[in-house]
Amino acid sequence: MNSSKTFAILFIFFIVLISSANAHIAFVNPPFRGNNAERMKEYPCGGSNEVNTTAITDFPVTDGQATVNIGHGDGILTFNYAPDSNSTFQSVSDNVTVAVAEGAGPKPYTAPINLSKAGAKIGDQGVLQIIFISGENFTYQCADVKIVNAKTEANGDASFVGISEIAFFIIGLTSFVMANL
Ligand SMILES: *[C@@H]1O[C@H](CO)[C@@H](O)[C@H](O)[C@H]1NC(C)=O
Ligand SMILES: *[C@@H]1O[C@H](CO)[C@@H](O)[C@H](O)[C@H]1NC(C)=O
Ligand SMILES: *[C@@H]1O[C@H](CO)[C@@H](O)[C@H](O)[C@H]1NC(C)=O
Ligand SMILES: *[C@@H]1O[C@H](CO)[C@@H](O)[C@H](O)[C@H]1NC(C)=O
Ligand SMILES: *[C@@H]1O[C@H](CO)[C@@H](O)[C@H](O)[C@H]1NC(C)=O
Repeated sequence: MNSSKTFAILFIFFIVLISSANAHIAFVNPPFRGNNAERMKEYPCGGSNEVNTTAITDFPVTDGQATVNIGHGDGILTFNYAPDSNSTFQSVSDNVTVAVAEGAGPKPYTAPINLSKAGAKIGDQGVLQIIFISGENFTYQCADVKIVNAKTEANGDASFVGISEIAFFIIGLTSFVMANL
């Protein structure tokens, strides 16, 4: 692993953290089709109801993983899928319990996703929706996904690379500092 790649990964990691710091909810992986703070409470996609053709991401039909940053709030995060944002969304994961104190976020939550629960097939294009339910408030966001075989290297599994490379970086930095004390 070369250091410029490591720095690039770290840089992207911090940009993602910073850019989502002011949002209630924001897809990290797969990337959101749009992130509109003023319209987040609008069903079904927080004001971004059309396909974003530059943000369509490969996602495995089973054994996917989605990661969402929550700015703050207590509640439930639900994950749903539909072929397009006018169709009926169906659940594709267990509900995730969220608890982020004001000022403590954003905090990432990751859930296993099985798109075949909603009848999705390899080759389909569709919409992965998150709903953050906090008391009476419902907040929505969507991501555009192209459904691929679970065994291919899809974006749904890519977050592990970033985390392990950051761990390597921290281990490397620690040993460098120790060696130079
Ligand atoms: C579509 O996605 C791209 C890439 O993520 C982003 O730069 C762009 O702002 C999005 N378009 C809209 C309308 O949100
Ligand atoms: C959903 O329906 C509305 C109203 O019929 C239409 O304007 C919009 O283009 C449709 N969106 C999609 C993604 O099909
Ligand atoms: C998730 O929570 C919502 C709201 O409480 C509920 O309607 C839905 O059935 C739950 N879904 C699952 C998969 O447990
Ligand atoms: C995904 O969901 C389908 C349909 O409910 C089920 O048959 C399959 O066993 C699930 N796969 C995994 C890996 O959970
Ligand atoms: C719901 O939203 C309103 C207006 O933003 C806010 O005052 C209230 O505290 C929110 N409720 C919960 C349970 O977060």
